[in-house]
Amino acid sequence: MRLNSPQMNIIYRACMKASKSLIRDFGEIEKLQVSSKGPGDFVSSADKRTEKIIIDELLKAHSDYGIVSEEVGVINESNQDQRWIIDPIDGTMNFLNGIPHFAISIGFEQNKEVICGIIFDPIKNELFFAEKNNGAFLNNSRIRVSNKKKLKDCLLVTGGPKKLSKNKDHIFSEYRMISNLVDAPIRKFGSASLDIANVACGRFDGYWQSEINLWDIAAGIVIVKEAGGFIDIVKVDPNNPNKINITASNSNIHQELRDTLNKKNIE
Ligand code: IPD
Ligand code: CA
Ligand code: CA
Repeated sequence: MRLNSPQMNIIYRACMKASKSLIRDFGEIEKLQVSSKGPGDFVSSADKRTEKIIIDELLKAHSDYGIVSEEVGVINESNQDQRWIIDPIDGTMNFLNGIPHFAISIGFEQNKEVICGIIFDPIKNELFFAEKNNGAFLNNSRIRVSNKKKLKDCLLVTGGPKKLSKNKDHIFSEYRMISNLVDAPIRKFGSASLDIANVACGRFDGYWQSEINLWDIAAGIVIVKEAGGFIDIVKVDPNNPNKINITASNSNIHQELRDTLNKKNIE
């Protein structure tokens, strides 16, 4: 595996170290203490442990870099030019229920652009990574988005809405609309980072989701771009810069998927 930039090497080290403890925790899932962070959104002690290992490693390498991480929030807020963006466990509900489909996601953003990132599924041992201008990889193989040309033939994936979303009706109407355009039923796997990673390697043709957080998909942005895919990110809340809507897909269907989602009066 060839990791070019120093940042990528730092992310890789942090991710591998954290994944060892995460795998152990997954094996002992029933013993984990679970605390509630609001309806439908649980955080396990494994989440916090994994996050701490990652952050300690990253701060050891660059104590001055900004960090945005799901559980602790923001560290070194004044540094907006170099930021690590972390989701220690993406797919927490799967994790807590013993479903082996979750990932560690770490992206590195420079001057507001994510330039490298890793999404690691420690159970399947699948490491998705990319650095700007260097292609996207799954373990040792170069990956590319799919080449399907018609939306109708595509396998799509989505997620949400959250229980407390105020936009549920709209989100369900989008779902209904898209489901009428594709032959295969839309998938929902419960890990946004792996949804995008699986678009990048061509397993899915497209992914969209409303009201997702930056840390869910930061690493996925560079991975999907470097795999030849297209991605749209729209900020949806002026008071919360981390809240976004996302559409990621192969380049052939992107316009149609985006136009469909942008239709004003979805029934
Ligand atoms: C969640 C997962 C899920 C998505 C949710 C996210 P978490 O992240 O990515 O697929 O639908 O919007 O919050 O809570 O497991 O880190
Ligand atoms: Ca997440
Ligand atoms: Ca998480």
